[in-house]
Amino acid sequence: MHTIVSKEQLSPNVTRLVVEASRIAQIRRPGQFVIVRRGPGAERIPLTIADADPVAGTITLVIQAIGKSTSDLVELEPGQAIQDIAGPLGQPTELIERGHAVCVGGGVGTAVVYPIAQELHRRGVRVTSIIGGRSREWVILEDELRQAGEVVACTDDGSYGRHGFVTEALKDALEAGGVDAVYAVGPVPMMRAVSELTRPYGVPTTVSLNAIMVDGTGMCGGCRVSIGGETKYACVDGPEFDGHKVDFRMLADRLTTYRTFEQQALERREACRIGLRQPAPAVAPASAAASSNLTPATTENAR
Ligand SMILES: Cc1cc2nc3c(=O)[nH]c(=O)nc-3n(C[C@H](O)[C@H](O)[C@H](O)COP(=O)(O)OP(=O)(O)OC[C@H]3O[C@@H](n4cnc5c(N)ncnc54)[C@H](O)[C@@H]3O)c2cc1C
Ligand code: FES
Repeated sequence: MHTIVSKEQLSPNVTRLVVEASRIAQIRRPGQFVIVRRGPGAERIPLTIADADPVAGTITLVIQAIGKSTSDLVELEPGQAIQDIAGPLGQPTELIERGHAVCVGGGVGTAVVYPIAQELHRRGVRVTSIIGGRSREWVILEDELRQAGEVVACTDDGSYGRHGFVTEALKDALEAGGVDAVYAVGPVPMMRAVSELTRPYGVPTTVSLNAIMVDGTGMCGGCRVSIGGETKYACVDGPEFDGHKVDFRMLADRLTTYRTFEQQALERREACRIGLRQPAPAVAPASAAASSNLTPATTENAR
């Protein structure tokens, strides 16, 4: 069991959990992730190790609540525990040793570039972080990233920082010259746009692919991606790859495979919560008994 040590809301649907996981905290490296299972029957989901404190024996998870499993996780309070955390998994990020790196984070992707920016800074690389959100309250980890170098915050609506997409700020940095590497993590269209932008400049671009994962050990094939025409497994060969070689269309298609199941799981979760808020009926209605058969394990099997 992994006890939650602290919890903090970073944006309307992004939560930071600091969790006991001593062995993982000792050996994790930037770019690696864990597979988390909240409790018996729950789905296994991959989450990046956003930070770690080897002395305290904790890791930091930054979680965007978008579906059933992530919403269940962010409901946990300090003192409660996550049953299973497996990791560290995946290949560590290949980092440059000198020069100027631009780290681009969109939404919760900022939490994934954060350990990369930290380690680049530790190596003496100049780091510029370009981070974006739809408006001010969706921009996360700005203060933390500032400790690693310059930060350009962008908002779609102009309510904070620079008005516009992260790609516009990145274009200016590329035009200015001297960028040796770009690390980009965020929604698939963002990573695709960043990769297309850097291609003509010949700047090596690393993206972190959020493929659907089940076992995280290369056994199930769920996280299959196409890189330069070759099949790779994001969990063991990645999750980071050369953005100029990724087949983003295939990735986007595969991410929609279980959309109906995901929506149903979320709807059942909401229905259960409404049921919990209402006074308990004297005799359980047949529909409640039926819905209790639809456990989260159904979603996991569907993957
Ligand atoms: C290597 C890696 C690192 C990640 N790191 C983070 C992170 O640090 N913070 C964070 O908030 N999210 C992260 N994600 C995404 C996170 O795993 C999904 O948001 C989560 O699994 C959604 O589960 P759900 O039940 O809440 O949502 P669902 O409603 O089940 O799914 C919503 C969407 O999430 C994606 N998804 C669903 N199940 C999985 C799965 N088993 N594996 C991967 N993607 C899935 C799909 O795109 C799906 O359409 C990461 C994904 C990968 C592959
Ligand atoms: S998650 Fe099963 S092969 Fe990668």
